Amino acid sequence: MTQKKLKELLASMTVEEKAAQLTQVNGVSIKKDTQAELTGVDPRFAITLDEISRVGSVLNFASAEEAKEIQNRYLERSEKKIPLVMMMDVIHGYRTIFPIPLAMGATFDPALTEECAKMSAVEARCGGVQATFAPMVDLARDQRWGRVMETSGEDPYLNGEMGKAYIRGFHAGGLACCVKHFAAYGAAEAGRDYNTTDMSAHSLAQYYLYAYGECLKENPELVMSSFNALNGKPVNANKGLLIDLLRNEWKFNGVVISDYDAVWEMIAHGYTENEKECARIAINNEIDMEMVSTTYINYLPELLEEGAITEKKVDKMVGRVLALKNKLGLFENPYYGMDVENAEKVFLSAEYRNLARIAAEKSFILLKNEKEVLPLKKTEKIACVGPFAAERGIIGAWACNGRKEDAVSVLQGLENYLGESVPSAKGCGYELLATDESGIKSAVKAAKKAKTVIACIGEYMDDSGEGASRSKLNLPAPQIALLKALKEKGKKVVAVVFGGRAQELDEVEKYSDAILYVWQPGTEGGNAVARTLYGEVNPSGKTTVSFPRTVGQMPLYYNAFRTGRPKPVDDFKNVYYVSSYRDVLNSPLYPFGYGLSYTKFEISNLTISATEMDENGEIEVSVLVKNVGKYDGEEVVQLYLRDHHASMIRTVKELKAYKKIFLKAGEEQRVEFAINEKTLRFYNADFKYVSEKGKFSVMVGNSSENVLEKEFILK
Ligand code: GLC
Repeated sequence: MTQKKLKELLASMTVEEKAAQLTQVNGVSIKKDTQAELTGVDPRFAITLDEISRVGSVLNFASAEEAKEIQNRYLERSEKKIPLVMMMDVIHGYRTIFPIPLAMGATFDPALTEECAKMSAVEARCGGVQATFAPMVDLARDQRWGRVMETSGEDPYLNGEMGKAYIRGFHAGGLACCVKHFAAYGAAEAGRDYNTTDMSAHSLAQYYLYAYGECLKENPELVMSSFNALNGKPVNANKGLLIDLLRNEWKFNGVVISDYDAVWEMIAHGYTENEKECARIAINNEIDMEMVSTTYINYLPELLEEGAITEKKVDKMVGRVLALKNKLGLFENPYYGMDVENAEKVFLSAEYRNLARIAAEKSFILLKNEKEVLPLKKTEKIACVGPFAAERGIIGAWACNGRKEDAVSVLQGLENYLGESVPSAKGCGYELLATDESGIKSAVKAAKKAKTVIACIGEYMDDSGEGASRSKLNLPAPQIALLKALKEKGKKVVAVVFGGRAQELDEVEKYSDAILYVWQPGTEGGNAVARTLYGEVNPSGKTTVSFPRTVGQMPLYYNAFRTGRPKPVDDFKNVYYVSSYRDVLNSPLYPFGYGLSYTKFEISNLTISATEMDENGEIEVSVLVKNVGKYDGEEVVQLYLRDHHASMIRTVKELKAYKKIFLKAGEEQRVEFAINEKTLRFYNADFKYVSEKGKFSVMVGNSSENVLEKEFILK
């Protein structure tokens, strides 16, 4: 539709029709015709099909057919025929499920991430989806938070790079997308979801806002405002964030949608007295679409009447929603993305499964490999035990319309690969509070003839994700008892660990000869694990979250400040009056950027083209990377920077660039980076985003703690 026609349409709309365009309803509740049939739906959200002209968008529906039926029923009733826009959480796949975003971060491969997002989008459009609530780029530094699984980890730069890759992919696949959750939702105190977030304006600007701002460069159609109270106000009441920064400074003119019921939750926060106040505040902060709560349709006309909001503001907001629908071509084709005919042909196609397997293979992290237990030889006798041996619930939280029945378990993957059955036993459950160890004996018996035992352990997919915070990060006792029992029988133990977050692995480390961290690997997980264990693939994933020795270290992240009493990393018993604990080493068990390979890479010969530069200068940085092992493989060469002193304290190091390179056994390659003044910028004491003269260190290596270092001066 032309801009002129859009303006005419807007001018013709009643106030009620405008309020409808600013409201999104949960598809669950509008499958019923009358209120009486809406059992089990919170009356606050209840909008039946009869009343569907009171909304402008729907989230959550089972299929393209259902989306089409809702659109049809809506258009029959809508006088102005303004189509609904259909949205869902396509986070890491629609029906073919790819590894969780935390795992995709571990690939350090934006191009691969983009490809997976593109395929997810094509599948989603066969499911009736026109816009997805992704990418999520909240910075998370506390592994107790369940939604770490949706992030790319603890580094703002990597989060930004991965978020942009997801957007490019969703767009290439034809989906509108939504950067979330604006803002700083991941800083939930104590890692407890929906909890208070409170931080300095500098930390907010320097670390927590970075990735959202970066993502806007890829023109997402929506931004989602978050649940949390930030610095004493619910985000939906935060004009500084929503208007001054997002609209005026960052010039975002897309649709801001609230999180689920978050407009109403300002009452729960104790910030507003009633729904009318919620509507007034949210509208004045230009939350263009209210998700699920109904304060706009109930109070916008009255607020307009009273002059508490202006027609100009409402028209600007409605104009953005109409522009989104127009960009998707919905006025010409309301059934865009409801590709019923192709659905069954596209879902879970061989091509999609193949990419999902490759993505999983690239996301695995080899944390330990004592005496090259891995890769396995086909000749050696193995067994596959543990709660995740035959488990297909390995597709992660936020798996949209993915089904665990479609997934390949590790046991299936091994049997597919070997073409023969593999002895297996569960040994114990995966429940977080499990205590039953009665199955361990039979698991050890099942492994009797095996020289090497693959122990599939970890955290179940429902124990991470929204609302799934944990106060502990260790694996449940029965799982450790299983490892111990196998070790006591003299078995070689290969731990394959599942999880939606970094967990405490010190006991796993003690009883395992090798550890492969596989996150929640998605539909093709089992095939990817088998091919990796047998060396068809050489693991190349790197940690993007710091793995703690104990949950007591939380929040734990590599890019921290030095403090006035810098922490020792290799001792805790004989050090006093420094930033340290009396009972555990300060360092993580596995640091950010860490991951082994079946081969060995040597990084040497760090050179910098100059030891000083001015604001127009550039310094070339290069290292020599050599594959000195027996296998071809990939290495992630990481470049970190440290600003030694500035008008605000600076972190010990920050990731500024990385390159993932492939080297055949014996091959070597010089890897080059360039640093200029822009690379050194930060929010200084005057809140200016600038660089400041002085001494810097450039560090290059294959983990945040294994780097070569050189100093230079910014003049
Ligand atoms: C949820 C989540 C958000 C999601 C939305 C719609 O509560 O916080 O990430 O996009 O509701 O499902």
